[in-house]
Amino acid sequence: MNPLLSRLQPYPFERLRKLFADITPNPALRPISLGIGEPKHAAPDFLKQALAASLDTGLSSYPATAGTPALREACAAWVQRRYGVALDAATQVLPVNGSREALFAFAQTVIDPTRPGATVVMPNPFYQIYEGAAFLGGAEPHYVACDPARNFAADWDNVPEAVWARTQLLFVCSPGNPAGAVMPLDEWQRLFELSDRHGFVIASDECYSEIYFRDDAPLGGLEAAQRLGRTDFRRLMMFTSLSKRSNVPGLRSGFVAGDASLIKPFLLYRTYHGGAMSPVVQAASVAAWGDEDHVVDNRRQYREKFTQVTPLLAQVLDVALPDASFYLWAAVPASFADAAAGLSADEAFARELLAQYNVTVLPGSYLAREVGGANPGTGRVRMALVAEPAECLEAAGRIQAFLSRRA
Ligand SMILES: Cc1ncc(COP(=O)(O)O)c(C=O)c1O
Repeated sequence: MNPLLSRLQPYPFERLRKLFADITPNPALRPISLGIGEPKHAAPDFLKQALAASLDTGLSSYPATAGTPALREACAAWVQRRYGVALDAATQVLPVNGSREALFAFAQTVIDPTRPGATVVMPNPFYQIYEGAAFLGGAEPHYVACDPARNFAADWDNVPEAVWARTQLLFVCSPGNPAGAVMPLDEWQRLFELSDRHGFVIASDECYSEIYFRDDAPLGGLEAAQRLGRTDFRRLMMFTSLSKRSNVPGLRSGFVAGDASLIKPFLLYRTYHGGAMSPVVQAASVAAWGDEDHVVDNRRQYREKFTQVTPLLAQVLDVALPDASFYLWAAVPASFADAAAGLSADEAFARELLAQYNVTVLPGSYLAREVGGANPGTGRVRMALVAEPAECLEAAGRIQAFLSRRA
């Protein structure tokens, strides 16, 4: 067996199942889950129709790994409209089966494990695929804590120069999961300078880019590069998908875009790996990237929900409206920590809330790693406001009752 497999950590939801194994949730209340970040708004009808319409022809041929020109052009046209960035659809865009598989596969393409000290830098807390991709690529992860005092920006300045010197790949997540923070231009500039100096590749995970709460749409990596005059997007690849934008996590459709000299080897890797997208999914994806109305409506639904729910929770928890994404990243009272039971405040909060009010939240410590004796997720919980507004409001009411009863 591949010995690197043993380095993979249990997924947060596996740890959650263990944490809850001995709990009987209050049977008087129906369960509400804010635990899993899975979009739940309706998938658009036109997309379902495009899927159905392509069934006759779409199932009868092997797709090209590069996707159809029509799909690559639809992706490039979206980047042009959304970011004002012109791409060559033939060489700077590649369809992928959702950003998860692409983030993982890209690391396998980029990392050279034969170079001493191969390192992959990532934010902390983070999307766990970054870590698994680093391990299976034969590299060591280096975790960079996000700072609540600076809108959860990753503290890139804290990375020692010696670590940057052996870094081969940097994962950036903007808007971030779990805190929803958007990385500003000056941070991009800093990372580009470091990439130029040390030669590492930047993988920019942007899958939450269309769900935002500020007036301005989140800055994208390609957009940042262009503003800084880096029109060849050297050593930069952006990752996006339809999962959250169009409420189709089951479709498995996304694309990467950026440096043509990275797209080429990535396409080669994907050809062998079998990363081609079904023609049926390609046809639906062309329709989805071409339509913005459903995205505007989706964002409106999230905005209404967050505007109603966040102030209720802010009365009892340290929580604020994020820049973007569909999560609230709330600090819980430190008094929940239960040293005797070996539970951090976020774990104990999640357990008691489930037991008493049948609401599931995800302990923040499960989304982060302990570095130097501190886990930057400890003391926070992630709440995904993906369900209907009424259900999210009810969850907020139950959390209010839970905390006022305890006070
Ligand atoms: C930060 C982040 N990146 C990537 C993904 C993967 O999404 P998908 O593979 O559906 O594009 C997720 C999914 O939850 C995520 O939270």
